[in-house]
Amino acid sequence: MIFKLPCMDGVRTPFYYYDMALLRSTLEEIKKCIAGSDVHVHYAVKANGNPEILKVIAQAGFGADCVSGGEIAAALNAGFDNASIFYAGVGKTDEEILFGIEKGIGCFNVESIEELEVIAELGEKAQRKVPVALRVNPNIDAHTHEYITTGLEENKFGIDMRCLDKAVDKALASEWIDLTGLHFHIGSQITITEPFALLCERINKITEKYREKGIEFKILNVGGGLGIDYDTPDENPIPDFKGYFDTLISGMHLQPGQEIHCELGRAIVAQCGSLISRVVYIKEGIGRKFLILDAGMNDLMRPALYGAHHKIEVVDPRDEAETDVYDVVGPVCESSDVFGKDEKIPAVRRGDLVALRSAGAYGESMASEYNMRRLPGSLFVG
Ligand code: LLP
Repeated sequence: MIFKLPCMDGVRTPFYYYDMALLRSTLEEIKKCIAGSDVHVHYAVKANGNPEILKVIAQAGFGADCVSGGEIAAALNAGFDNASIFYAGVGKTDEEILFGIEKGIGCFNVESIEELEVIAELGEKAQRKVPVALRVNPNIDAHTHEYITTGLEENKFGIDMRCLDKAVDKALASEWIDLTGLHFHIGSQITITEPFALLCERINKITEKYREKGIEFKILNVGGGLGIDYDTPDENPIPDFKGYFDTLISGMHLQPGQEIHCELGRAIVAQCGSLISRVVYIKEGIGRKFLILDAGMNDLMRPALYGAHHKIEVVDPRDEAETDVYDVVGPVCESSDVFGKDEKIPAVRRGDLVALRSAGAYGESMASEYNMRRLPGSLFVG
């Protein structure tokens, strides 16, 4: 266990515990890796939109990657610079687009020709030229979970390479569109560098083709996707940013004035968060023991939705050596409300605290009130 909880009297479980010192060191490490380069990082707000987390990331000088009007508003409230806010998503509504235009955000990552037409119309309505990057579906297999792979032809995201010429022509022809770049994103929780290297090659090919036609893109946005170590979070609290950024910097053939942008979410916030929960019952089943927590799939959805596993630890165990084997489950009325099967951990009693580690990304932000349960709280330490 890497952390000791402060006094827990009166703190209601379950709640998200955030190690803010780790978040700061993670941000510092990224800044160190990209110092002096043409790389700009926009934090993917969807990973965790908690205002305290957003504030720290904004203060560190990062941009924001948003996927709704709500996220744009949250980013602005947290202090992100308007021009550093990029906006992606396949279903941007007129209201959201107009909001982004009014606020002067830095770039709309456009996912279809249909959307491009609407943005041009709304730009005219607002009498503002709108900065746009075209999101290209590069058809690269990220070798990750099928629900979080996004860069394949079968996914709904981005403009197919075969339609890109048409989209570029349309954008260049519109007086209300400022075509600033290209945007890509191939998936999430990618723990090997090959897919990123492949993406760079694909981007080089595309930019070379347009260069021959006299078209240059200033912004080359590679999206997010860098994965983290869910199995041994204490050994790897900070992901291998150096390896990741070196792959991008050496892989992309930049022209003077061109910039690499990326949108990291999970890699920035996952390891600083844990979901802390209390043991409600230890139920003796037939041939198994159920450790029933007061946290459920509504608080942390990833195991139920993707079959993900978050390391389960007992907070301040009485005796590390005395272990037991449990199926760790939540209280929600769904058979998939399971955090781990056959988990060998220190023996616990009713009332003990359990931590579900590496839950800072897509934990609190995906929580719901299903079963009319209260949303989890949050506690910031460090
Ligand atoms: N950019 C775009 C366009 C995205 O769609 C995403 C994530 C990101 C950036 C940030 O990706 P990251 O660096 O966090 O991998 N709920 C799932 C993950 C969904 C990711 C969706 N898109 C999970 O809990 O694993």
